[in-house]
Amino acid sequence: MKFGYFDDEAREYVITEPKTPYPWINYLGNEEFFGLVSNTAGGYCFYKDAKFRRLTRYRFNNVPMDVGGRYYYIKDGDTVWNPGWKPTQTDLDKYECRHGLSYSKFIGEKDGVSSELTCFVPKGTNAEVHKLAIENVSDVQKSLKLFSFIEWCLWNGMSDMENFQRNLSCGEVEIEDSVIYHKTEYKERRDHFAFFSVNAPINGFDTDRENFIGLYNGFENPQVVEAGMPRNSVAHGWSPIASHYIEVDLAPGEKRELVFILGYIENAQEEKWESKGVINKTKAKAMIANFDTTEKVDAALAEIATDWKRLLGVYQVSTGDEKIDRMVNIWNPYQCMVTFNMSRSASFFESGIGRGMGFRDSNQDLIGFVHQVPERARQRIIDIASTQFEDGSAYHQYQPLTKRGNADIGGDFNDDPLWLILSVSAYIKETGDWSILDESVPYDNDASKATDLFGHLTRSFNFTVNNLGPHGLPLIGRADWNDCLNLNCFSSDPNESFQTTNNKMGRTAESLMIAGQFVLYGREYVELCKRRGVDTAEAEKQIDAMIEAVKNYGWDGDWFLRAYDYYGKPVGSKENEEAQIFIESQGFCTMAEIGKEEGLCEKALDSVAERLACEHGIVLNNPAFTKYVIEYGEISTYPAGYKENAGIFCHNNPWVIIGETKLGRGEKALDYWKRIAPAFREEKSELHKMEPYVYSQMIAGKDAFKPGEAKNSWLTGTAAWNWAAISQDILGIKPGYDGLIIDPCVPKDWNKYKVTREYRGAIYNITIKNPSGVCKGVSSLAVNGEPVQGNVVPIQAADSVNDVDVILGDAS
Ligand code: BGC
Repeated sequence: MKFGYFDDEAREYVITEPKTPYPWINYLGNEEFFGLVSNTAGGYCFYKDAKFRRLTRYRFNNVPMDVGGRYYYIKDGDTVWNPGWKPTQTDLDKYECRHGLSYSKFIGEKDGVSSELTCFVPKGTNAEVHKLAIENVSDVQKSLKLFSFIEWCLWNGMSDMENFQRNLSCGEVEIEDSVIYHKTEYKERRDHFAFFSVNAPINGFDTDRENFIGLYNGFENPQVVEAGMPRNSVAHGWSPIASHYIEVDLAPGEKRELVFILGYIENAQEEKWESKGVINKTKAKAMIANFDTTEKVDAALAEIATDWKRLLGVYQVSTGDEKIDRMVNIWNPYQCMVTFNMSRSASFFESGIGRGMGFRDSNQDLIGFVHQVPERARQRIIDIASTQFEDGSAYHQYQPLTKRGNADIGGDFNDDPLWLILSVSAYIKETGDWSILDESVPYDNDASKATDLFGHLTRSFNFTVNNLGPHGLPLIGRADWNDCLNLNCFSSDPNESFQTTNNKMGRTAESLMIAGQFVLYGREYVELCKRRGVDTAEAEKQIDAMIEAVKNYGWDGDWFLRAYDYYGKPVGSKENEEAQIFIESQGFCTMAEIGKEEGLCEKALDSVAERLACEHGIVLNNPAFTKYVIEYGEISTYPAGYKENAGIFCHNNPWVIIGETKLGRGEKALDYWKRIAPAFREEKSELHKMEPYVYSQMIAGKDAFKPGEAKNSWLTGTAAWNWAAISQDILGIKPGYDGLIIDPCVPKDWNKYKVTREYRGAIYNITIKNPSGVCKGVSSLAVNGEPVQGNVVPIQAADSVNDVDVILGDAS
């Protein structure tokens, strides 16, 4: 069952039924100000950091869920309704939510009144703009009462929901003309305030929640709206809100457009006040003036559309399959932008107070983003690397506002350092900007401890070399990519978090996943060294030794082991009672092509097909754990089939997909890709539950109570990795150091497709033909009609437009 449809032309997902199986959300903003918005206009917004600079309040885990947002109540006689259906839930004659690229539109119609609410964050502006159009489509005069509503968060998302003894006495507001200012703590320790404005005179307002809603009412029936009369309340403590009251009289056919702005302002210390106790509103007024007409708002919206057209234009495919095309051309890159912006901090599953920017997460996110805005990717790499420690290890996360690392969600994840090599090499391949390696970058944000970025990569590489276990395999630390395989943890204390349990840090537990990662990214490091004229003999020796160690101690007969535990016993082996095979090491060791000549990769992936693959994707391990294994940490605490315990953890599926392309198995690769691609799951939305336009972190696996049910949409490395898998390894257009590498791996029955790729300032119109029905291999390549040896398209002059003709077939 579907709850809407894709409008590919408009690049929107159109939700036509407000009762989606879960709130289906969208993101506003791509720079420093962000909003999360559900299909019923719920959600909140923040400046830079969802924990430290939250403008509006949002209650997670609420009953009913998803209440609180940007609400506009329209009172038409005794009927009160909202353009986005919630919170009144009054039946609408028409409801549509159009989630577009960085904007959302809510179209509601009731009793001859139609409304369209468009929400977005204009470029270069720290504000959400809400354009509300109300039209009388009936043939009678309408006298409507409009109430806007948002609820302020007292800035720190965490203390806002716990420190009530203070919070309830702190709130302060100011009202001037049609603008409501939120200035809690501005007097003392803050130099920022927020405001909610409208570009029209108002007939009243409210700023105190208890006055507006009433202590015994809810968002769905505020007493002021029911009475049709504002109270002009001025909040002193308790819960400050902002609500404008506007009388809207419309003749038949008449339309009125209003612009509301929910903005954030910072003032320098010496410019904070206009007069004693009165905030300096100069910047706010300037921001309001920028959008005081609908023309200005429409122009700002058009600017965003133009940006997206350009961003998406970097890679456009035409395969003839609309679902593949819409994932590749629109929604997958869009999600990559969002994961780049948010890391794992703020979604409807990440509360914005729990996690900041992850070291491993953000490095991986870059592979799906670097082609979009390389300058931002460059800055991000520097920010991430600045939190690295001198021994190459890293803080596991940092706060976006301060860019400082912290150990709030633990540390000692031994995969972390190697991801930096992945992101930096991806950046250079995309841009050709080798100068990034010479940037001076601090360690632990301490400028007195700095080397060039290349030095950071050397330390990343050496971190693994310096932390090998008894089999010559990498020590796992607290965990590797799989946060829940805590092989040095042993916590039986229910009050202790697995992520921060005092790590035993034995030097026994080893990871086969990091081994594969080391070989893969180690080779990348060697390539960078060579191009810088750095001797690589020692590094190559280490990589060869690792390959040997994997073959000697990491092979279980039909697949790669997952790890050795604290006691030196194999994990992910036939010897084990449960969880005999895991996905991560199969993915990484086959991507690194370890033992490919001896047939190990093929065997490992055949075992994946047999043991791990199911209708909805590839599960993480099999059999699922049904017993708690204390020496494995968190993983076996999950019920079978969920999350890291045999869930389909979508992030790692593309590792197998890419592994399949290394073996040239085009059917298998695309088949796996389709199983989890959201557009291919749209028809089963009732089961899938999450948005059909973006990936979820997890889909319940075959051992679960409800296989196929997804959770944790939006913020997942799945976006970037699937981007890499489909755009580079299946469709086969891959940036390299010396040009665009053409190396498709597609089903045999694909006979033709086209890709337009913008790369280092030139455009490549690539046509791939497959006359002899192969999966892989380029038999001929021509650039602008000239034959080229091999499969690398040399870099063409900036601004040139080039035709690239590729024939697949026998490469020899
Ligand atoms: C984390 C990742 C981790 C993954 C698997 C995600 O929630 O953000 O860092 O690799 O879980 O455990």
